[in-house]
Amino acid sequence: MFLQVLLSEDGNNAVTETSHNFLFGFGPITVYGILGLLIQIAPYQLYSSRSMVWLQFYGYLSQQQNMMQDYIRTSTYQRAIHSNLEDFKDKVVLDVGAGSGILSFFAEQAGARTVYAVEASSMARHAESLVFHNKKSDRIVVVPGKIEEITLPELVDVIISEPMGYMLFNERMLETYLHAKKWLKPEGKMFPTQGDLHIAPFNDASLFMEQHNKANFWFQNSFHGVDLSSLRDVAAEEYFKQPIVDTFDIRICTAKSVRHTVDFLTAHETDLHRIEIPLQFHILQTGDIHGLAFWFDVAFIGSRQTLWLSTSPTQPLTHWYQVRCLLSSPIFAQRGQVVTGSVVLHSNKRQSYDVEIELVLDGTRTRNTLDLKNPFFRYAGQPPQPPPGCQESSPSEAYWQVLTNGGPDPVMNGGGAAGDMMDVSHQLGPSYPSYNLGEIVDVRSLLAV
Ligand SMILES: C[S@@+](CC[C@H](N)C(=O)[O-])C[C@H]1O[C@@H](n2cnc3c(N)ncnc32)[C@H](O)[C@@H]1O
Repeated sequence: MFLQVLLSEDGNNAVTETSHNFLFGFGPITVYGILGLLIQIAPYQLYSSRSMVWLQFYGYLSQQQNMMQDYIRTSTYQRAIHSNLEDFKDKVVLDVGAGSGILSFFAEQAGARTVYAVEASSMARHAESLVFHNKKSDRIVVVPGKIEEITLPELVDVIISEPMGYMLFNERMLETYLHAKKWLKPEGKMFPTQGDLHIAPFNDASLFMEQHNKANFWFQNSFHGVDLSSLRDVAAEEYFKQPIVDTFDIRICTAKSVRHTVDFLTAHETDLHRIEIPLQFHILQTGDIHGLAFWFDVAFIGSRQTLWLSTSPTQPLTHWYQVRCLLSSPIFAQRGQVVTGSVVLHSNKRQSYDVEIELVLDGTRTRNTLDLKNPFFRYAGQPPQPPPGCQESSPSEAYWQVLTNGGPDPVMNGGGAAGDMMDVSHQLGPSYPSYNLGEIVDVRSLLAV
């Protein structure tokens, strides 16, 4: 899941917080189900302004569409549910944050007796419309409201949800997912069942320089006659506080990732208020470490099959991309050395986290604190470049080799113009993740409310 930042013309985040603390929620919505259930949203529920903006965001069909169109995401959910029919057949299911209701439909397809589709935003009425027009009102019951506030007529066998944000934890909806367990039977199942955050040190001098160069704008001592240089360091600090959302070649990682697992069956929502992850990296590649790279996988552990949804840089790109947090200054580590440190995620009232990273080598500490709510969206729709120094044979020779041995010779076959040359790059280089995002390569935010 994600929230999209509304962009102003200069590309700056334009979602702003309202100056007052509370807004009134959306008006009354009446939802009729064939079960004879009549559920009325309490009119003018009081929501905080931040969660109000957030819910308004999810009330747009276009935003639900963006998530639904992440083919890897949606198909993996469907396969995970359909591969474990025995966990759903004749069972009672709770869909936490149902949005359009797509996951509820998957559960119904798998034979669920009743699916309670709980949705806090005004999307609830569109979900209800889909349920009605698909003639599923006898099996899917849309419950408008927040999971923390609604009541259900019974306990459920399975909870399904898509509560993951950037770096797994952003948006803090995992807490809502865990909170929903108050409705789960003692031996009930959670889909997804487990979340793994991966953290690895990376080397990327060009990214590091890019951030410094942006800050160097403030180095000018006569900008329209004004000396800006006193603000250069503050500007650098600001840029380095931004986690970078994009993708990269995993070969920039200089050590195997550390994995931090959250077991959704046993974790309590308060466990996610402060998340401390100790780090120990055995360096595999000598060079500067410029920061820490993050991605996550979730596992659907069913009675029959376990399936994974992965946002690893080795896998097809999803709308979660990967996230990188830069250190304020790089550390140089040699192959065989051990780098220790920690990541501490402090939850904040902006439905996000302050991310404290620290690396220690030979007693020297480097740290940075980043604001996950204000990331820099760097993804430009291009496949990531391999890091320098990866070619162990001549790429130029390899190119001609492929033409000679494999494909048609463009010259001999009369296709001599350079522009007509076949693209053989896919036969030469490392296999890059394929891109499935289609239309959803637009800029995303980490719940910027
Ligand atoms: C990432 S979207 C997932 C939508 C849908 N399940 C899907 O997979 O396409 C999360 C949804 O959860 C809803 N939501 C967030 N917090 C909620 C809460 N506390 N109670 C109920 N719904 C919530 C949002 O409005 C949003 O529609």
